[in-house]
Amino acid sequence: MNVLRFSDLCDEGRARGRRVFIRADLNVPQDDAGHITEDTRIRASVPCIQMALAGGAAVMVTSHLGRPTEGEFKPEDSLAPVAARLSELLGRPVPLKADWVDGVDVQPGEVVLLENCRVNKGEKKNNPELAQKMAALCDIFVHDAFGTAHRAEASTYGIAQHAKVACAGPLLAAEIDAISKALANPRRPLVAIVAGSKVSTKLTILQALAKNVDQLIVGGGIANTFMLAAGLPIGKSLAEPDLLDQARSVIEAMKARGADVPIPTDVVVAKTFAADAPATVKAAADVAADDLILDIGPQTAQKLAQQLKAAGTIVWNGPVGVFEFSAFAKGTETIARAIADSDAFSIAGGGDTLAAIAKYGIEQDVGYISTGGGAFLEVLEGKTLPAFEILQKRANG
Ligand code: 3PG
Repeated sequence: MNVLRFSDLCDEGRARGRRVFIRADLNVPQDDAGHITEDTRIRASVPCIQMALAGGAAVMVTSHLGRPTEGEFKPEDSLAPVAARLSELLGRPVPLKADWVDGVDVQPGEVVLLENCRVNKGEKKNNPELAQKMAALCDIFVHDAFGTAHRAEASTYGIAQHAKVACAGPLLAAEIDAISKALANPRRPLVAIVAGSKVSTKLTILQALAKNVDQLIVGGGIANTFMLAAGLPIGKSLAEPDLLDQARSVIEAMKARGADVPIPTDVVVAKTFAADAPATVKAAADVAADDLILDIGPQTAQKLAQQLKAAGTIVWNGPVGVFEFSAFAKGTETIARAIADSDAFSIAGGGDTLAAIAKYGIEQDVGYISTGGGAFLEVLEGKTLPAFEILQKRANG
């Protein structure tokens, strides 16, 4: 990808004494008391900040948090808990600045956090005046917010249009390098796991992957629709019967390339959707009219595990069963452990997938864990995200 990289600018000494504006994605989950419950995105943003400080820059960092109403700052919109965590991780104070659009006082060797950028009026719609003001705050704009790379907002897109220099931070660069490695020139067989409740929300991803992958493993409600398309009974399981033609066309497209959508041969069912509902393993053909399919069965899980162990590259988005309930977690656990044991280069993304990775403690065994939710999915769809589009444009012009 032809974008200017911040690491190169730093290596060339071009950040020294410069004002550097980093757009990070520090949008982390918090509990009702405002405590951060998961800080992966903050930790992933630290290397860029350290790079800027080591490069001798005056460093401004901002992020959105949640989806606040523009122009109406509320205490729960504040990045204060993020500033505190960032201070711990950097081992230095990180002052939080409010009302920063018209000017920020920061010296080389210092870092400040600029309050929730989505509270600024005009942020969402990429207002040109706001973008120009933000661009005027800096000499170098660094886009390091992969989780927000699919948004064209003032702090992610407009500022990149107007800043003197616009470049990709190390996290943004690492994310796109990892996804390109997985999808553009993969070691084969390339296996993708796409699971989730609805085909409709992931249809374009399934269609895009059907042109590229060797095995497309479907899970969750998506698998139910594919089972229905294959003529299997699914009882009262979650499915989208109006998308059967689309599911069939994905199966056909894969078959035509000599590739495969493995349909479950056995499943775990219950009569109700509850953690304590008795779980029964059944052949896929034997699902009763009042059954709910809540996981893949052991035979299917073993077969998929073998395919994953033999894979060259694995892309994982979505747990294959209701892994939050232990009686229906075996399928996802088997898949997770097979990915961990595989020699394949693996990349995983999406909130539920990261929760499954954490639950089975396989973080160290996955090749790359993306910080992107929606952004990760849009890259799988084959879209060029606005962040990369504008940074490429700036690098070429
Ligand atoms: C995310 O949580 O996926 C990113 O931070 C983007 O947030 P958004 O969907 O509110 O733009």
